[in-house]
Amino acid sequence: MQAFTDAILSALAQETSLALEDLNLETPRNPELGDFAFPCFPLAKTLRKAPPKIAQELAEGLTKTLKGIEVQATGPYLNFRIDRPTLAKSVIESILEAGSTFGHSEQGAGKTIVIDLSSPNIAKPMSVGHLRSTVIGAAIQRLHDALGYTTVGINHIGDWGSQFGKLIAALDRWGEEVDLENDPIPALLKLYVRYHEEEEADPTLKEAAATAFRELESGVDGPVRAVWRKMTALSLSEFDRVYARLGVSFDEVRGEAFYESYLDQTVQRIVDAGITEESEGALVVSLKQFGENLPPCILRKTDGTTLYATRDLAAVFHRWELYSFERCLYVVGGDQRLHFRQLKHVLDRMGLEWEPRMEHVDFGMVRLPEGRMSTRHGKVVFLQDVLDEASRRATEVIKEKNANLTDPEAVGEMVGMGAVVFNDLKRERVKDIAFTWEEVLAFEGDTGPYVQYTHARLASIERKAAAAGEGSGKCDFEAVAADSTLILELGRYPSVLVRAASEAEPSLLTQYLLGLSRMINSWIAQCRVLGQEEGVTGARLALANSCKVVVSNGLGILGVPAPTEM
Ligand code: ARG
Repeated sequence: MQAFTDAILSALAQETSLALEDLNLETPRNPELGDFAFPCFPLAKTLRKAPPKIAQELAEGLTKTLKGIEVQATGPYLNFRIDRPTLAKSVIESILEAGSTFGHSEQGAGKTIVIDLSSPNIAKPMSVGHLRSTVIGAAIQRLHDALGYTTVGINHIGDWGSQFGKLIAALDRWGEEVDLENDPIPALLKLYVRYHEEEEADPTLKEAAATAFRELESGVDGPVRAVWRKMTALSLSEFDRVYARLGVSFDEVRGEAFYESYLDQTVQRIVDAGITEESEGALVVSLKQFGENLPPCILRKTDGTTLYATRDLAAVFHRWELYSFERCLYVVGGDQRLHFRQLKHVLDRMGLEWEPRMEHVDFGMVRLPEGRMSTRHGKVVFLQDVLDEASRRATEVIKEKNANLTDPEAVGEMVGMGAVVFNDLKRERVKDIAFTWEEVLAFEGDTGPYVQYTHARLASIERKAAAAGEGSGKCDFEAVAADSTLILELGRYPSVLVRAASEAEPSLLTQYLLGLSRMINSWIAQCRVLGQEEGVTGARLALANSCKVVVSNGLGILGVPAPTEM
């Protein structure tokens, strides 16, 4: 497809003597008019002519130079229509030739994108919010990988902070009463809840927690640190089970604790920039100039301990030094908008010109049927249970639909995980999502299973053709000339990836795949691929296989498995 737009644009550049980068093609609102349109208004000034006249004159010249593309002037617009068999041949052949790399490019070569994703907290269950960050972040990383960027996915684990003092104090008192070895996360959760129930009535508990955290921050490698290390290891192995099921891995797992040895120099650097002040004993950066009500960024508390923000500042400096990133994307829920605004304002006040490269890629909340969950009150949904449930329900549905599957459990796991992942990516990320099993797992409608099912249908056509020995001979592209809407949509895939990456918005890809799947299914319903005249079967099978390549590549980027039967 790009071959056609390139040809049109360079012919236009030649005819008008304008620079290529000043020329843009649009998609006509009415597809009957053509595949691409060029509005002539912007030329009126330089050429001193009315736009319709310009369109007419350009059409004549372009018709001669552009082969296989019909040019027509409609009022102030030039419309271009690619000859149908030429379009089919070009799009289908380029998809089949590239295969699993169709849509990939080198546009990002030499540029590094850092993605801060997942980042659950030690000693607490991973939440549906962390799942969303994992899924969105991994999709954004794969999008950039496909476009040739160097990417670094960092899991910024929450393994530091005053809550560890509380946990250590709680473990000290009631550790015997829970089963830390076999069921670590619920055990730690229980202790956390109990701590909060009892801290008000028992000041010694609060004191013990504060002392423990001070010891942790002091860097002393004593018993407190040993407990902390153990909690971290237990939690990480729990998280890894979720990551394995989702097929997600990280380039770096650098928890907040990793930045411990960078904290002093981080604070010093900000002090040296001359923007810090003392406020009620704490060291802060005032952000009043960005908004009367904007709270200051606190770097050190009165007792000398650091905060979440201090560690994030240390992390961003570390990342900048290491990667000189093009963008550093923080895939974190919208409830931390203020935190990231504050960080960016601090960089801004320090006069760092790369401040705009730090971007908060925020997302909405997931509302489970139970309502909003809170770790404090111990009312939580465990992610493993959600995934188990998805797998179980999907297996049930599949068994009902297709009794011939050899391994329904394996397919059920693919469909179950795919359904959950797709659901997290389906709508614009800033939107909240209400999670209902009926909607997530439906085979019809805007769901992952629907796209997976489309893929399985295409795979089945391919299998049947191979079994019948059809489709390896002649290919008559005339036979698919009338399917140009579908073919144009396939040809659009590379540009969808580019936009989705630049907007850090995987929903552009999910929405594209949903629309494409609808087109594919109605195409399958209305035309027979196998058992036709050789050239016809050849062309239709090539089109079906191109559809399969695009659906499979798109699902791969989203992190949704593409089953070949279901
Ligand atoms: N652990 C944090 C939380 O669960 C998220 C961390 C996000 N990343 C960051 N660099 N602040 O709320």
